[in-house]
Amino acid sequence: MIDAFQIPATVLIGGGSRREVVAQLNRFGVRRVLLVTDRGMMQLGPAGEIAGLLTEAGLTVAIHDDVQPDPTDRNVLEGLERFRAEGCEALVAVGGGSPIDAAKAISVLTTNALPLCQYAGYHKIPRVGVPLIAIPTTAGTGSEVTKVTIIKDTERDVKMMLLSVNLLPSVALVDYELTLTMPARLTAAVGVDTLTHGIEAYVSRKAHPMTDALALSCIQLVGRHLRTAYREPNHPEARAGMMLAACQGGMAFANSSVCLVHGMSRPIGALFHLPHGLSNAVLLPTVTRYSLPSALSRYAYVSQLLGGCDPEATDSQAADALVVGLEQLNTDLQLPRLRDCLGLEETRFRTLLPKMAEDALASGSPQNNPRVPDSEEIVDLYQQAW
Ligand SMILES: [Fe+2]
Repeated sequence: MIDAFQIPATVLIGGGSRREVVAQLNRFGVRRVLLVTDRGMMQLGPAGEIAGLLTEAGLTVAIHDDVQPDPTDRNVLEGLERFRAEGCEALVAVGGGSPIDAAKAISVLTTNALPLCQYAGYHKIPRVGVPLIAIPTTAGTGSEVTKVTIIKDTERDVKMMLLSVNLLPSVALVDYELTLTMPARLTAAVGVDTLTHGIEAYVSRKAHPMTDALALSCIQLVGRHLRTAYREPNHPEARAGMMLAACQGGMAFANSSVCLVHGMSRPIGALFHLPHGLSNAVLLPTVTRYSLPSALSRYAYVSQLLGGCDPEATDSQAADALVVGLEQLNTDLQLPRLRDCLGLEETRFRTLLPKMAEDALASGSPQNNPRVPDSEEIVDLYQQAW
């Protein structure tokens, strides 16, 4: 059995690391760069600051700021056209998971034939793309260090998952200062996404010692810092802790896997446009309760790390306490339940349950879960989470 561990060759972590962008680009000898971001990042400042640093250094910068939340194949193709029209040689992505995911797909489409959908799944991208420097502005997806991208196929209305070492950014600049202005609601949702990465990477059937170490550290950091980051947005230690957790969670799940929570979460995002972190948060307690019996000691250890149970508790007691603790975390972070998010669309939700279950299974993620459900069980879990 050989365990793979693949992360970007360079990861710079710490306040101010975003300002290393020029020095890192210079290593690749490129002069023309496409900056991939979204309108919010341009308006709020981080993307403009990075564009300014690049321009001051004499680089030519084209800006693709049309990436939407849950990026689509169209966002990617527009970016690719722009990249080619401007004669760019490298990419810089600034934002949450969406611009970084879009930039990864643009990068590999500069060197691999269209269409993108032929690369959905595992290890299907033949060639490495152009250099990509990823600069995250949320502490959540960990996309800056992963070989995974999620792009919505607008014709089929599904989120495609592409996993390939060729999707890895060349450089990640992990700078918590960019998260100090994140609104509380976003902090909460992306923070629970990070926790889900840590937990799923640790309980996955694909977990191995390299991913365990990072997953457990990620879980512990979230337990220590998420509530503080939510309540006190300017708390540097909490923000730095969550940024590190997101980075470690990304490294862990991309080399182990995500499981049933992410598998069930993507159809909710694709069909109801719920943000990724939120759709994970509404499922995490329910899916954890279902999965406990198949990885009891691992879930018990997670519970101990999060400090949610008596150190003398049995595995069974600790694992049960984890479900309660995850529900309490959602409450403390004022995250809504699924019915609060989709209340007006309840009939459509009920009608689409079989498709959602099939799409979840087709993604491959539920099969990595310690307890593997069939489609009827997945429908039942969606209903329990309602
Ligand atoms: Fe996620």
